[in-house]
Amino acid sequence: MQVLSLPQSVVTAYECVEEFLGERDPVVVAAFAFLGGYTLSRLWSLHTDDLGLRIHAKRSIFYYMRKLPFVKRQIEQHLKDARGNLEKSIHGNDNSGQFLSHLPQKGLSVDETVTLIKEYSAMESTNWMEGRCSGAVFHIDESESDEMRIYREVCDHFAWSNPLWPKLFPGVRKMEAEIVRISANLLGGNEKTCGTMSTGGTASILLACLAHRNRALKRGIQFPEMVIPESAHAAFIKAGELFRIKVTRIPVDPDNYRVNVAKMRKAISDRTCMLVGSAVNFPSGAHDDIESIGKLGQKYNIPVHVDACLGGFLLPFIDDARPFDFRVPGVCSISADTHKYGLTPKGSSVILYSSKEYLHNQYFCDPDWQGGIYASSTLEGSRAGLNIALCWASLRHHGAEGYRETSRAVVNATRKLRDAISAIPGLKVMGACDVCVVGWTGEDGININRFHALMEQRNWGLTSLQFPAGVHLMVTMLHTQEGVIDALVKDAREVVDEIRRSPNAELTGAAALYGMAQKIPDRSIVHEFAFEYLDTCYTEPPRHN
Ligand SMILES: *Cc1c(COP(=O)(O)O)cnc(C)c1O
Ligand SMILES: *[C@@H]1O[C@H](CO)[C@@H](O)[C@H](O)[C@H]1NC(C)=O
Repeated sequence: MQVLSLPQSVVTAYECVEEFLGERDPVVVAAFAFLGGYTLSRLWSLHTDDLGLRIHAKRSIFYYMRKLPFVKRQIEQHLKDARGNLEKSIHGNDNSGQFLSHLPQKGLSVDETVTLIKEYSAMESTNWMEGRCSGAVFHIDESESDEMRIYREVCDHFAWSNPLWPKLFPGVRKMEAEIVRISANLLGGNEKTCGTMSTGGTASILLACLAHRNRALKRGIQFPEMVIPESAHAAFIKAGELFRIKVTRIPVDPDNYRVNVAKMRKAISDRTCMLVGSAVNFPSGAHDDIESIGKLGQKYNIPVHVDACLGGFLLPFIDDARPFDFRVPGVCSISADTHKYGLTPKGSSVILYSSKEYLHNQYFCDPDWQGGIYASSTLEGSRAGLNIALCWASLRHHGAEGYRETSRAVVNATRKLRDAISAIPGLKVMGACDVCVVGWTGEDGININRFHALMEQRNWGLTSLQFPAGVHLMVTMLHTQEGVIDALVKDAREVVDEIRRSPNAELTGAAALYGMAQKIPDRSIVHEFAFEYLDTCYTEPPRHN
């Protein structure tokens, strides 16, 4: 072969290849070329998809490890033990020995039904009403309160309504529009601000991620990514799984637990479809630096979502709150939960956008459906108008003054708890904790998982945190009741003393479990334990003979 005008080294290389190939069967050469090309393109597609090469590799390693008989046996034994404990803890309140598994042949009378309703309701422990649990219920429930009277009335009038049919249910349509507008104005929006309601914080976050992903897809980004603080709510990971968005988690600064914005900037790529900040976040209640995240968003033309599921109906009423809403340049969407500090019964939240352009990426339309042209604004088709009406009634009933009062009470109780916990040697508060969550870890020999378990024995339902191990209390109106915070602090102090008296006690039960789950490198095993928990929620209670 004549290879003119090429440098000598290239010619030599050429000759080497030719010599090498010349001795081989062309079929084998073709097969190798094909396989090599295929492998490279496979690796490339794994590298660029929503999980990335590293996670794929890790998953397959663990997949094969778990096939080893010794590993398999261990896991199965642990799962079996867990099942027993879960049954006890989940079905512990059900002593009826009965489980309804078929429709009754003949319907029950009103009285019979009401009796049963009361029976099921009586299974509830009264713990949460006494303020012994983190979060969960945000408002004080008194069955003869004004609120309950209003809610009963709402139920009378809106039980059947469905905003999917705005002409049939014009009242509920208007209520949703008003709630969106009220929230937009509360959160620094202008006349362009728009949005919808959803069934909860997770649903609002899913919608925002869907909208921003769709925007990226329209711009030709095949595998969009989102960049979120590692302290952001798990709902973002859920959105990543559902909508195939790769999630990059950015560490928080260890001193203030706010996301490290410099690291966030480094993680931005030409595939990034959204940036996220929380005001405030779930684990430690830290308020991310939304202004700096907004600047990043503007600089790189990436939508910024603020998760104000917690802060949305608190921060607007707190005088020293840091900026977080649509007044911050760069902020494009906000999720805010009416069913948390909006103090309405569960089942409602708001998702807002700075303009219709973003909102339209959330909307859905099938112009070709046999059932007619179908359009919907959220993930659902039919929706419970009841939830919207309950929310609307709450907002109207509390009013700005009501929310200002409850916000102050929550913030006061939060700061009081924070100061008291940080005054206990051995416990370390996680950052500012100045809005509605107080998180803390253990130090100087205090094992926080053991602390948690001992608090549980004293009937306190704290939330377990991981990475770093800790606990938190999400402060609600129930904790503002007389003496609740004092009682919690007193028990915390006694538990710390107890741990100091027996520093080398073995971790057992719940304490061991909290710690263990964080140490398992194969997270798919944690999946199995968690799914066992979920399964147990759907099983018949174990029969006691
Ligand atoms: C509670 C919460 C959510 C999720 O809300 P759900 O109503 O439980 O779906 C999202 N973000 C933050 C910060 C939350 O506290
Ligand atoms: C909150 O605390 C401040 C001072 O610590 C007090 O003046 C105020 O009345 C408290 N507010 C509420 C609603 O408890």
